[in-house]
Amino acid sequence: MKPQQHTVKLSLLRALSKGGFHSGEELGDELGISRAAVSKHIKGIQGWGVDIFRVQGKGYQLANPLQLLDESVLNSSVATPFALIPVIESTNQYILDNARELDSGFVCIAEYQSKGRGRRGREWISPFGSNLYLSMFWQLEAGMAAAMGLSLVVGIAIAEAIEKLGIEGIKLKWPNDLYHNDKKLAGILVEMSGQAGGAANLVIGIGMNLSMDENVDGITQPWTSLNQITQIPVDRNKLAIEIIKTLVSTLEDYESFGMNQFVERWNRLDNYLGRKVKLLMGAKEIEGIAQGINEQGAILLSTPQGMQSFIGGEISLRNNE
Ligand code: BTN
Repeated sequence: MKPQQHTVKLSLLRALSKGGFHSGEELGDELGISRAAVSKHIKGIQGWGVDIFRVQGKGYQLANPLQLLDESVLNSSVATPFALIPVIESTNQYILDNARELDSGFVCIAEYQSKGRGRRGREWISPFGSNLYLSMFWQLEAGMAAAMGLSLVVGIAIAEAIEKLGIEGIKLKWPNDLYHNDKKLAGILVEMSGQAGGAANLVIGIGMNLSMDENVDGITQPWTSLNQITQIPVDRNKLAIEIIKTLVSTLEDYESFGMNQFVERWNRLDNYLGRKVKLLMGAKEIEGIAQGINEQGAILLSTPQGMQSFIGGEISLRNNE
């Protein structure tokens, strides 16, 4: 769907994001449409997961403040080429579809995803303006063999970007979820778009909860949001800028120096270091004490049989305390 198809809804959202009540008449006059058309578009916006209510005689108001992503603010701060596409199926899919024309480091960022996807074929619920949905295209010169390490390094980069904004207590759950107080804050989905020579073309997708309402359907595990952690709304543009910058510089370091320096950086942030965990591998379960990662990016467990390492996409880690 082309972005310009949503121009009216996005203009309405810009008007509403200023705060206060806005009558159907005022909004209609501003946009050159009828009150009935305003009402129809408001319903469409509600379908994107935005909570808007209407009070007789006053008009429409957003239930929660909304800070929109601002192209000019992003433009002035990031060197990487990017596309801000407010309404999209999936930022990862956009990059997969356009990979041939994109340079390494290209970013796609959205306000709403109609088909956001998570790992293991799960849906990633992506209401408008509540969270962060960002994907980066990366040509990994070291090839597929280095992709496992890369996905861990992405988690480190995002955790460190959040720390740079003064937010503490962000942790990592192997292989690449971000946690806070044992609750999920963000997830990472790395997909491959192909191979060129020895290089692997990767799509790195990041979904982070910023202010998602606790009652959103379809979310089952304990999760948190950045605003819940900070208790004040986080500036979404600043956050996106810090993540993009930190991601580019961290991935460049990974390309130059490999996993070496990242083992220590991971272990500092590891949510389960020294804690009882179990690994689920199909029907098999392994219990042990988490001991961080090794230079291959494998998770280390001390078990009654000694120290063991595990690596691979089909492994899930669970708290076992
Ligand atoms: C997970 O399951 O934990 C990974 C979630 C990844 C979600 C992000 S949101 C931006 C990008 N586009 C998608 O469709 N998915 C990723």
